[in-house]
Amino acid sequence: LVLVLCLSAAEDFDWSANNHDSFYYGTFPNGFSWGAGSSAYQTEGAWDKDGKGLSIWDVFTHKKGKTFLNDTGDSSCEGYYKFKDDISLIKELNLNHYRFSISWPRIMPTGIRSDHVNEKGVKYYNALIDELLKNNITPIVTLYHWDLPQVLQEKYGGWQNISMINYFNDFANLCFERYGDRVKYWITFNNPWVCSLYSSYNTQGHWGLQSKWSYCTILFVWHTYDTQWRNKQRGMVGISLSGDWGEPVDITNQKDIEAAERYVQFYIGWFATPIFHGDYPQVMKDFIGRKSAQQGLGTSRLPTFSSQEKSYIKGTSDFLGVGHFTTRYITQKNFPFNRGSTYFSDRDVAELVDPRWPDPGSEWLYSVPWGFRRLLNFIKTQYGNPVIFITENGVSEKMMCTELCDDWRIQYYKGYINEMLKAIRDGVNVKGYTAWSLLDKFEWDEGYSERFGLYYVDFKNKNKPRYPKASVQFYKRIIKSNAFPN
Ligand code: NOJ
Repeated sequence: LVLVLCLSAAEDFDWSANNHDSFYYGTFPNGFSWGAGSSAYQTEGAWDKDGKGLSIWDVFTHKKGKTFLNDTGDSSCEGYYKFKDDISLIKELNLNHYRFSISWPRIMPTGIRSDHVNEKGVKYYNALIDELLKNNITPIVTLYHWDLPQVLQEKYGGWQNISMINYFNDFANLCFERYGDRVKYWITFNNPWVCSLYSSYNTQGHWGLQSKWSYCTILFVWHTYDTQWRNKQRGMVGISLSGDWGEPVDITNQKDIEAAERYVQFYIGWFATPIFHGDYPQVMKDFIGRKSAQQGLGTSRLPTFSSQEKSYIKGTSDFLGVGHFTTRYITQKNFPFNRGSTYFSDRDVAELVDPRWPDPGSEWLYSVPWGFRRLLNFIKTQYGNPVIFITENGVSEKMMCTELCDDWRIQYYKGYINEMLKAIRDGVNVKGYTAWSLLDKFEWDEGYSERFGLYYVDFKNKNKPRYPKASVQFYKRIIKSNAFPN
Protein backbone atom coordinates (compact mmCIF):
# COMPACT_ATOMS: atom_id res chain seq x y z
CA LEU A 1 0.00 0.00 0.00
CA VAL A 2 1.07 3.55 -0.60
CA LEU A 3 3.33 5.10 1.91
CA VAL A 4 2.25 8.65 2.41
CA LEU A 5 4.47 10.80 4.50
CA CYS A 6 3.21 13.85 6.25
CA LEU A 7 4.18 17.13 4.81
CA SER A 8 6.53 18.71 7.29
CA ALA A 9 6.30 22.27 6.08
CA ALA A 10 2.53 22.44 6.24
CA GLU A 11 2.57 26.07 7.24
CA ASP A 12 3.37 26.94 3.63
CA PHE A 13 -0.17 26.02 2.67
CA ASP A 14 -3.55 27.29 3.55
CA TRP A 15 -5.02 23.87 4.28
CA SER A 16 -8.21 25.31 5.65
CA ALA A 17 -9.11 26.79 2.24
CA ASN A 18 -10.49 23.39 1.27
CA ASN A 19 -11.94 22.35 4.55
CA HIS A 20 -15.38 21.28 5.53
CA ASP A 21 -18.45 23.26 6.41
CA SER A 22 -20.53 22.66 9.50
CA PHE A 23 -22.26 19.55 10.67
CA TYR A 24 -25.66 18.97 9.13
CA TYR A 25 -28.50 17.73 11.26
CA GLY A 26 -31.04 16.10 9.02
CA THR A 27 -32.90 13.01 7.97
CA PHE A 28 -32.12 10.33 5.41
CA PRO A 29 -34.68 9.54 2.71
CA ASN A 30 -37.37 7.03 3.59
CA GLY A 31 -36.32 3.51 2.73
CA PHE A 32 -32.62 4.34 2.87
CA SER A 33 -30.82 1.03 3.33
CA TRP A 34 -28.26 0.60 6.12
CA GLY A 35 -25.84 -2.28 6.06
CA ALA A 36 -22.45 -3.74 6.86
CA GLY A 37 -20.12 -5.83 4.77
CA SER A 38 -17.63 -8.66 4.59
CA SER A 39 -15.99 -10.84 1.98
CA ALA A 40 -15.49 -14.59 1.75
CA TYR A 41 -11.73 -14.93 2.03
CA GLN A 42 -11.52 -12.27 4.70
CA THR A 43 -14.02 -13.88 7.08
CA GLU A 44 -15.14 -17.43 6.24
CA GLY A 45 -12.12 -19.52 7.18
CA ALA A 46 -12.79 -23.22 6.42
CA TRP A 47 -10.31 -22.84 3.58
CA ASP A 48 -10.11 -26.56 2.82
CA LYS A 49 -13.39 -27.83 4.22
CA ASP A 50 -16.36 -29.58 2.62
CA GLY A 51 -14.83 -29.89 -0.82
CA LYS A 52 -13.72 -26.28 -1.31
CA GLY A 53 -10.98 -25.78 -3.91
CA LEU A 54 -7.97 -23.52 -3.43
CA SER A 55 -8.05 -19.85 -4.27
CA ILE A 56 -5.07 -17.72 -5.22
CA TRP A 57 -5.20 -16.28 -1.70
CA ASP A 58 -4.98 -19.68 -0.04
CA VAL A 59 -1.84 -20.39 -2.01
CA PHE A 60 -0.36 -16.93 -1.65
CA THR A 61 -0.77 -16.70 2.12
CA HIS A 62 0.77 -20.12 2.62
CA LYS A 63 4.03 -18.89 1.16
CA LYS A 64 6.31 -17.45 3.78
CA GLY A 65 6.92 -13.75 3.99
CA LYS A 66 3.93 -12.60 1.96
CA THR A 67 1.63 -11.22 4.63
CA PHE A 68 2.03 -9.54 8.00
CA LEU A 69 3.40 -12.22 10.40
CA ASN A 70 2.55 -14.81 7.72
CA ASP A 71 -1.12 -14.49 8.67
CA THR A 72 -3.56 -16.48 6.55
CA GLY A 73 -7.33 -16.61 6.14
CA ASP A 74 -7.36 -20.34 6.98
CA SER A 75 -9.70 -19.89 9.90
CA SER A 76 -10.15 -16.11 10.15
CA CYS A 77 -13.50 -15.41 11.88
CA GLU A 78 -14.77 -18.94 11.19
CA GLY A 79 -17.68 -17.23 9.49
CA TYR A 80 -18.44 -20.44 7.62
CA TYR A 81 -19.50 -22.03 10.91
CA LYS A 82 -20.68 -18.96 12.78
CA PHE A 83 -22.92 -17.29 10.23
CA LYS A 84 -26.00 -17.64 12.40
CA ASP A 85 -24.25 -15.85 15.25
CA ASP A 86 -23.21 -13.15 12.83
CA ILE A 87 -26.75 -12.72 11.62
CA SER A 88 -27.82 -12.11 15.20
CA LEU A 89 -25.21 -9.34 15.36
CA ILE A 90 -26.62 -7.89 12.14
CA LYS A 91 -30.07 -8.12 13.70
CA GLU A 92 -28.82 -6.45 16.81
CA LEU A 93 -27.66 -3.51 14.69
CA ASN A 94 -31.01 -3.43 12.92
CA LEU A 95 -29.39 -3.48 9.52
CA ASN A 96 -31.46 -3.53 6.35
CA HIS A 97 -28.83 -5.27 4.24
CA TYR A 98 -25.72 -7.36 4.53
CA ARG A 99 -23.04 -7.47 1.88
CA PHE A 100 -21.00 -10.66 1.53
CA SER A 101 -19.20 -12.44 -1.28
CA ILE A 102 -19.39 -15.94 -2.69
CA SER A 103 -16.15 -17.84 -2.81
CA TRP A 104 -15.85 -19.11 -6.37
CA PRO A 105 -13.66 -22.12 -5.46
CA ARG A 106 -16.02 -23.05 -2.65
CA ILE A 107 -18.78 -23.79 -5.12
CA MET A 108 -16.61 -24.63 -8.16
CA PRO A 109 -13.37 -26.07 -6.83
CA THR A 110 -11.41 -25.70 -10.06
CA GLY A 111 -13.32 -22.63 -11.18
CA ILE A 112 -14.74 -24.58 -14.10
CA ARG A 113 -18.37 -25.54 -13.99
CA SER A 114 -18.08 -28.58 -16.20
CA ASP A 115 -15.40 -30.03 -13.90
CA HIS A 116 -17.44 -30.10 -10.74
CA VAL A 117 -20.02 -28.16 -8.73
CA ASN A 118 -19.50 -28.56 -5.00
CA GLU A 119 -23.00 -28.94 -3.62
CA LYS A 120 -21.84 -28.56 -0.03
CA GLY A 121 -20.49 -25.13 -0.88
CA VAL A 122 -23.69 -24.22 -2.71
CA LYS A 123 -25.63 -25.29 0.34
CA TYR A 124 -23.67 -23.02 2.66
CA TYR A 125 -24.66 -19.88 0.73
CA ASN A 126 -28.24 -21.10 0.51
CA ALA A 127 -28.34 -21.41 4.27
CA LEU A 128 -26.77 -17.96 4.70
CA ILE A 129 -29.21 -16.31 2.30
CA ASP A 130 -32.22 -18.04 3.85
CA GLU A 131 -31.20 -17.06 7.34
CA LEU A 132 -30.77 -13.42 6.28
CA LEU A 133 -34.15 -13.34 4.61
CA LYS A 134 -35.79 -15.01 7.58
CA ASN A 135 -34.51 -12.06 9.59
CA ASN A 136 -35.64 -9.49 7.05
CA ILE A 137 -32.13 -8.61 5.95
CA THR A 138 -31.53 -8.07 2.25
CA PRO A 139 -28.49 -9.91 0.88
CA ILE A 140 -26.18 -7.90 -1.39
CA VAL A 141 -23.92 -10.45 -2.98
CA THR A 142 -20.49 -9.91 -4.51
CA LEU A 143 -19.48 -12.50 -7.08
CA TYR A 144 -15.79 -11.73 -7.10
CA HIS A 145 -13.95 -10.38 -4.09
CA TRP A 146 -10.45 -11.39 -5.17
CA ASP A 147 -10.39 -15.13 -4.45
CA LEU A 148 -9.84 -16.55 -7.92
CA PRO A 149 -9.70 -20.36 -8.12
CA GLN A 150 -6.03 -21.34 -8.13
CA VAL A 151 -6.50 -23.73 -11.04
CA LEU A 152 -7.60 -20.87 -13.28
CA GLN A 153 -4.55 -18.89 -12.27
CA GLU A 154 -2.13 -21.77 -12.75
CA LYS A 155 -3.53 -23.24 -15.91
CA TYR A 156 -4.62 -20.14 -17.77
CA GLY A 157 -2.86 -17.19 -16.16
CA GLY A 158 -6.00 -15.97 -14.42
CA TRP A 159 -7.41 -12.57 -15.32
CA GLN A 160 -4.83 -11.99 -17.99
CA ASN A 161 -6.47 -14.64 -20.11
CA ILE A 162 -9.55 -13.73 -22.09
CA SER A 163 -11.02 -17.18 -21.48
CA MET A 164 -11.89 -15.93 -17.97
CA ILE A 165 -14.90 -14.37 -19.65
CA ASN A 166 -16.46 -17.78 -20.06
CA TYR A 167 -15.39 -19.20 -16.73
CA PHE A 168 -16.59 -16.19 -14.79
CA ASN A 169 -19.79 -16.11 -16.76
CA ASP A 170 -20.46 -19.79 -15.96
CA PHE A 171 -19.82 -19.12 -12.30
CA ALA A 172 -22.14 -16.11 -12.29
CA ASN A 173 -24.78 -18.08 -14.12
CA LEU A 174 -24.67 -20.81 -11.51
CA CYS A 175 -25.11 -18.18 -8.79
CA PHE A 176 -28.08 -16.62 -10.59
CA GLU A 177 -29.53 -20.09 -11.12
CA ARG A 178 -29.17 -21.23 -7.53
CA TYR A 179 -29.62 -18.02 -5.57
CA GLY A 180 -31.25 -15.49 -7.88
CA ASP A 181 -34.77 -16.35 -6.79
CA ARG A 182 -33.84 -14.73 -3.45
CA VAL A 183 -30.87 -12.46 -4.18
CA LYS A 184 -31.86 -9.21 -5.92
CA TYR A 185 -28.65 -7.20 -5.65
CA TRP A 186 -25.53 -8.52 -7.32
CA ILE A 187 -22.09 -6.96 -7.41
CA THR A 188 -20.10 -8.51 -10.21
CA PHE A 189 -16.65 -7.46 -9.22
CA ASN A 190 -15.12 -5.82 -6.18
CA ASN A 191 -12.72 -3.04 -6.76
CA PRO A 192 -10.91 -3.82 -10.01
CA TRP A 193 -8.68 -0.80 -9.50
CA VAL A 194 -6.81 -2.48 -6.67
CA CYS A 195 -6.28 -5.65 -8.66
CA SER A 196 -5.28 -3.76 -11.77
CA LEU A 197 -2.95 -1.17 -10.40
CA TYR A 198 -1.64 -1.64 -6.92
CA SER A 199 -1.12 -5.30 -6.65
CA SER A 200 -0.98 -6.41 -10.19
CA TYR A 201 1.59 -8.49 -11.98
CA ASN A 202 4.49 -6.18 -11.58
CA THR A 203 4.30 -6.16 -7.78
CA GLN A 204 3.37 -9.21 -5.80
CA GLY A 205 2.13 -11.14 -8.74
CA HIS A 206 -0.77 -12.79 -7.05
CA TRP A 207 -3.97 -11.18 -8.17
CA GLY A 208 -3.32 -9.17 -11.24
CA LEU A 209 -6.00 -8.12 -13.59
CA GLN A 210 -5.75 -6.64 -17.00
CA SER A 211 -8.21 -3.84 -17.15
CA LYS A 212 -9.70 -4.46 -20.54
CA TRP A 213 -10.45 -8.12 -19.92
CA SER A 214 -11.98 -7.24 -16.62
CA TYR A 215 -14.46 -5.01 -18.39
CA CYS A 216 -15.40 -7.69 -20.81
CA THR A 217 -15.69 -10.23 -18.04
CA ILE A 218 -17.84 -8.05 -15.86
CA LEU A 219 -19.97 -6.81 -18.67
CA PHE A 220 -20.67 -10.22 -20.04
CA VAL A 221 -22.12 -11.09 -16.69
CA TRP A 222 -24.37 -8.04 -16.73
CA HIS A 223 -25.58 -9.03 -20.22
CA THR A 224 -26.10 -12.61 -19.08
CA TYR A 225 -28.33 -11.41 -16.28
CA ASP A 226 -30.09 -8.94 -18.51
CA THR A 227 -30.94 -11.43 -21.22
CA GLN A 228 -31.44 -14.64 -19.26
CA TRP A 229 -32.54 -13.76 -15.76
CA ARG A 230 -33.87 -10.26 -15.41
CA ASN A 231 -37.42 -11.02 -16.46
CA LYS A 232 -37.73 -13.89 -14.06
CA GLN A 233 -35.72 -12.57 -11.16
CA ARG A 234 -36.10 -8.80 -11.35
CA GLY A 235 -32.82 -8.02 -9.66
CA MET A 236 -30.11 -5.40 -10.14
CA VAL A 237 -26.52 -6.00 -11.19
CA GLY A 238 -23.73 -3.51 -10.60
CA ILE A 239 -20.04 -3.23 -9.96
CA SER A 240 -18.23 -1.94 -6.89
CA LEU A 241 -15.52 0.61 -7.62
CA SER A 242 -13.17 2.14 -5.15
CA GLY A 243 -12.41 5.80 -5.35
CA ASP A 244 -10.40 8.05 -3.11
CA TRP A 245 -10.92 11.74 -3.63
CA GLY A 246 -8.09 13.94 -4.92
CA GLU A 247 -8.23 17.64 -4.05
CA PRO A 248 -5.89 20.17 -5.69
CA VAL A 249 -3.39 21.54 -3.18
CA ASP A 250 -3.81 25.00 -4.65
CA ILE A 251 -7.30 25.51 -6.00
CA THR A 252 -6.18 28.56 -7.95
CA ASN A 253 -3.42 26.74 -9.79
CA GLN A 254 -4.44 25.19 -13.12
CA LYS A 255 -1.66 22.59 -12.99
CA ASP A 256 -2.81 21.38 -9.58
CA ILE A 257 -6.40 21.27 -10.77
CA GLU A 258 -5.38 19.16 -13.75
CA ALA A 259 -3.26 16.87 -11.56
CA ALA A 260 -6.19 16.29 -9.21
CA GLU A 261 -8.44 15.60 -12.18
CA ARG A 262 -5.95 12.99 -13.40
CA TYR A 263 -5.82 11.43 -9.96
CA VAL A 264 -9.57 10.92 -9.82
CA GLN A 265 -9.98 9.94 -13.49
CA PHE A 266 -7.22 7.35 -13.20
CA TYR A 267 -8.99 6.01 -10.14
CA ILE A 268 -12.75 5.73 -10.33
CA GLY A 269 -12.97 7.17 -13.84
CA TRP A 270 -10.84 4.39 -15.34
CA PHE A 271 -13.66 1.93 -14.74
CA ALA A 272 -16.76 4.09 -14.37
CA THR A 273 -16.36 6.07 -17.60
CA PRO A 274 -16.47 3.04 -19.92
CA ILE A 275 -19.46 1.70 -18.03
CA PHE A 276 -21.41 4.95 -18.21
CA HIS A 277 -20.04 6.48 -21.43
CA GLY A 278 -18.59 3.55 -23.36
CA ASP A 279 -14.94 4.60 -23.35
CA TYR A 280 -11.99 5.56 -21.14
CA PRO A 281 -11.91 9.10 -19.74
CA GLN A 282 -10.60 11.61 -22.29
CA VAL A 283 -8.00 12.78 -19.76
CA MET A 284 -6.64 9.24 -19.56
CA LYS A 285 -6.58 8.77 -23.32
CA ASP A 286 -4.76 12.06 -23.89
CA PHE A 287 -2.30 11.56 -21.09
CA ILE A 288 -1.34 7.95 -21.80
CA GLY A 289 -1.29 8.65 -25.52
CA ARG A 290 1.20 11.49 -24.97
CA LYS A 291 3.33 9.46 -22.59
CA SER A 292 3.42 6.48 -24.92
CA ALA A 293 4.56 8.73 -27.78
CA GLN A 294 7.30 10.20 -25.59
CA GLN A 295 8.42 6.66 -24.83
CA GLY A 296 8.68 6.02 -28.55
CA LEU A 297 5.78 3.56 -28.64
CA GLY A 298 3.84 3.44 -31.87
CA THR A 299 0.48 3.19 -30.14
CA SER A 300 -0.91 4.15 -26.76
CA ARG A 301 -0.40 1.75 -23.89
CA LEU A 302 -4.06 2.25 -23.09
CA PRO A 303 -6.09 -0.38 -24.93
CA THR A 304 -8.82 0.85 -27.23
CA PHE A 305 -12.39 -0.32 -27.46
CA SER A 306 -13.87 -1.12 -30.84
CA SER A 307 -17.18 0.59 -31.58
CA GLN A 308 -18.92 -2.72 -31.05
CA GLU A 309 -17.25 -3.08 -27.66
CA LYS A 310 -18.18 0.47 -26.77
CA SER A 311 -21.84 -0.09 -27.29
CA TYR A 312 -21.66 -3.43 -25.53
CA ILE A 313 -20.01 -1.87 -22.49
CA LYS A 314 -22.06 1.29 -22.16
CA GLY A 315 -24.85 1.08 -19.63
CA THR A 316 -23.85 -2.23 -18.10
CA SER A 317 -24.52 -1.36 -14.50
CA ASP A 318 -27.92 -1.04 -12.87
CA PHE A 319 -26.32 0.78 -9.96
CA LEU A 320 -22.85 1.90 -9.02
CA GLY A 321 -21.27 0.43 -5.90
CA VAL A 322 -18.82 2.88 -4.36
CA GLY A 323 -16.10 1.97 -1.89
CA HIS A 324 -14.58 5.07 -0.37
CA PHE A 325 -12.11 5.46 2.47
CA THR A 326 -9.90 8.53 2.20
CA THR A 327 -8.65 11.64 0.37
CA ARG A 328 -5.36 13.12 -0.76
CA TYR A 329 -4.18 16.56 -1.68
CA ILE A 330 -2.78 16.44 -5.17
CA THR A 331 -0.23 18.63 -6.83
CA GLN A 332 1.68 18.76 -10.05
CA LYS A 333 4.84 16.86 -10.76
CA ASN A 334 7.49 19.43 -9.92
CA PHE A 335 6.67 19.59 -6.25
CA PRO A 336 9.75 19.61 -4.01
CA PHE A 337 9.72 16.02 -2.81
CA ASN A 338 12.18 16.41 -0.01
CA ARG A 339 9.29 17.63 2.08
CA GLY A 340 7.56 14.31 1.97
CA SER A 341 5.06 13.07 -0.55
CA THR A 342 4.34 10.11 -2.74
CA TYR A 343 4.76 10.57 -6.44
CA PHE A 344 3.02 8.51 -9.08
CA SER A 345 4.89 8.73 -12.32
CA ASP A 346 2.14 6.93 -14.19
CA ARG A 347 -0.14 9.87 -13.61
CA ASP A 348 2.38 12.66 -12.96
CA VAL A 349 0.82 13.50 -9.66
CA ALA A 350 2.18 13.91 -6.17
CA GLU A 351 0.02 13.04 -3.17
CA LEU A 352 0.17 14.92 0.09
CA VAL A 353 -1.67 14.65 3.35
CA ASP A 354 -2.53 17.37 5.81
CA PRO A 355 -0.55 16.67 9.00
CA ARG A 356 -3.59 17.68 11.01
CA TRP A 357 -5.70 14.86 9.62
CA PRO A 358 -6.22 12.31 12.38
CA ASP A 359 -3.66 9.51 12.51
CA PRO A 360 -4.71 6.49 10.57
CA GLY A 361 -4.81 2.85 11.59
CA SER A 362 -3.84 1.82 8.08
CA GLU A 363 -1.03 4.00 6.86
CA TRP A 364 -2.99 4.98 3.76
CA LEU A 365 -6.27 5.78 5.46
CA TYR A 366 -6.76 9.32 6.75
CA SER A 367 -10.09 10.56 7.97
CA VAL A 368 -11.15 13.34 5.61
CA PRO A 369 -14.96 13.30 5.56
CA TRP A 370 -15.48 16.22 3.18
CA GLY A 371 -13.72 14.32 0.39
CA PHE A 372 -16.62 11.84 0.42
CA ARG A 373 -19.18 14.49 -0.47
CA ARG A 374 -16.95 15.79 -3.26
CA LEU A 375 -16.46 12.34 -4.73
CA LEU A 376 -20.20 11.66 -4.65
CA ASN A 377 -20.94 14.94 -6.39
CA PHE A 378 -18.26 14.16 -8.96
CA ILE A 379 -20.00 10.84 -9.70
CA LYS A 380 -23.35 12.57 -10.00
CA THR A 381 -22.01 15.09 -12.50
CA GLN A 382 -19.82 12.78 -14.52
CA TYR A 383 -22.08 9.77 -14.89
CA GLY A 384 -25.57 11.22 -15.08
CA ASN A 385 -26.58 10.80 -11.45
CA PRO A 386 -26.66 7.00 -11.27
CA VAL A 387 -28.16 5.00 -8.43
CA ILE A 388 -25.38 4.57 -5.89
CA PHE A 389 -24.89 2.08 -3.11
CA ILE A 390 -22.00 2.78 -0.80
CA THR A 391 -20.50 -0.69 -0.71
CA GLU A 392 -17.61 0.08 1.63
CA ASN A 393 -16.75 2.87 4.01
CA GLY A 394 -14.94 2.55 7.29
CA VAL A 395 -11.66 2.74 9.11
CA SER A 396 -9.16 0.50 10.82
CA GLU A 397 -7.29 0.77 14.05
CA LYS A 398 -3.98 -0.75 14.82
CA MET A 399 -3.98 -2.86 17.97
CA MET A 400 -5.27 -0.27 20.42
CA CYS A 401 -5.10 -1.12 24.09
CA THR A 402 -8.77 -0.32 24.55
CA GLU A 403 -10.00 -2.13 21.49
CA LEU A 404 -13.66 -1.79 22.32
CA CYS A 405 -13.56 1.97 22.93
CA ASP A 406 -13.20 2.95 19.32
CA ASP A 407 -13.99 6.65 19.62
CA TRP A 408 -11.75 7.20 16.66
CA ARG A 409 -14.04 5.06 14.51
CA ILE A 410 -17.13 6.84 15.83
CA GLN A 411 -15.66 10.18 14.76
CA TYR A 412 -14.85 8.75 11.35
CA TYR A 413 -18.34 7.33 10.80
CA LYS A 414 -19.98 10.47 12.12
CA GLY A 415 -18.08 12.67 9.71
CA TYR A 416 -18.39 10.43 6.66
CA ILE A 417 -22.05 9.56 7.12
CA ASN A 418 -22.80 13.23 7.63
CA GLU A 419 -21.01 14.19 4.42
CA MET A 420 -22.96 11.48 2.62
CA LEU A 421 -26.14 13.03 3.94
CA LYS A 422 -25.04 16.41 2.60
CA ALA A 423 -24.38 14.77 -0.77
CA ILE A 424 -27.88 13.33 -0.75
CA ARG A 425 -29.15 16.83 -0.02
CA ASP A 426 -27.05 17.99 -3.01
CA GLY A 427 -29.12 15.58 -5.13
CA VAL A 428 -26.75 12.61 -5.32
CA ASN A 429 -28.75 9.43 -5.71
CA VAL A 430 -27.39 7.35 -2.81
CA LYS A 431 -29.77 4.56 -1.87
CA GLY A 432 -27.79 2.69 0.75
CA TYR A 433 -24.71 2.67 2.92
CA THR A 434 -22.52 -0.28 3.91
CA ALA A 435 -20.20 0.08 6.87
CA TRP A 436 -16.94 -1.73 6.29
CA SER A 437 -16.81 -4.04 8.04
CA LEU A 438 -19.13 -5.99 10.29
CA LEU A 439 -16.28 -7.89 11.95
CA ASP A 440 -12.56 -7.54 12.32
CA LYS A 441 -11.14 -9.87 9.69
CA PHE A 442 -8.17 -10.82 7.55
CA GLU A 443 -6.96 -7.60 5.95
CA TRP A 444 -5.09 -9.02 2.94
CA ASP A 445 -1.36 -8.25 3.00
CA GLU A 446 -1.77 -6.70 6.44
CA GLY A 447 -3.10 -9.92 7.96
CA TYR A 448 -4.89 -9.35 11.26
CA SER A 449 -2.91 -6.24 12.15
CA GLU A 450 -5.60 -3.90 10.88
CA ARG A 451 -9.05 -4.13 12.35
CA PHE A 452 -11.95 -2.59 10.47
CA GLY A 453 -14.80 -4.21 12.40
CA LEU A 454 -17.75 -2.80 14.26
CA TYR A 455 -17.29 -6.00 16.24
CA TYR A 456 -13.99 -7.00 17.73
CA VAL A 457 -12.90 -10.57 17.03
CA ASP A 458 -10.55 -12.35 19.41
CA PHE A 459 -8.47 -14.23 16.84
CA LYS A 460 -6.29 -15.82 19.52
CA ASN A 461 -9.23 -17.72 20.92
CA LYS A 462 -10.07 -20.69 18.72
CA ASN A 463 -13.80 -19.99 19.11
CA LYS A 464 -13.23 -16.52 17.64
CA PRO A 465 -15.65 -14.72 19.96
CA ARG A 466 -17.05 -11.36 18.80
CA TYR A 467 -17.45 -8.30 21.06
CA PRO A 468 -19.25 -5.06 20.16
CA LYS A 469 -17.08 -1.99 19.96
CA ALA A 470 -18.50 1.38 21.01
CA SER A 471 -19.17 2.20 17.35
CA VAL A 472 -21.93 -0.42 17.33
CA GLN A 473 -24.05 1.74 19.63
CA PHE A 474 -23.31 4.82 17.58
CA TYR A 475 -24.23 3.18 14.26
CA LYS A 476 -27.34 1.68 15.81
CA ARG A 477 -28.58 5.11 16.86
CA ILE A 478 -28.21 6.51 13.34
CA ILE A 479 -30.00 3.52 11.83
CA LYS A 480 -32.81 3.70 14.35
CA SER A 481 -33.54 7.37 13.74
CA ASN A 482 -32.56 7.27 10.04
CA ALA A 483 -31.10 10.68 10.78
CA PHE A 484 -28.63 12.81 12.67
CA PRO A 485 -31.09 14.10 15.20
CA ASN A 486 -30.61 17.57 16.67
C1 NOJ B 1 -11.24 -2.55 -0.01
C2 NOJ B 1 -11.39 -4.05 -0.09
O1 NOJ B 1 -12.43 -4.33 -0.99
C3 NOJ B 1 -11.66 -4.71 1.25
O2 NOJ B 1 -11.60 -6.09 1.07
C4 NOJ B 1 -10.69 -4.19 2.29
O3 NOJ B 1 -10.93 -4.82 3.54
C5 NOJ B 1 -10.84 -2.70 2.41
N1 NOJ B 1 -10.52 -2.09 1.13
C6 NOJ B 1 -9.95 -2.07 3.45
O4 NOJ B 1 -8.63 -2.14 3.05
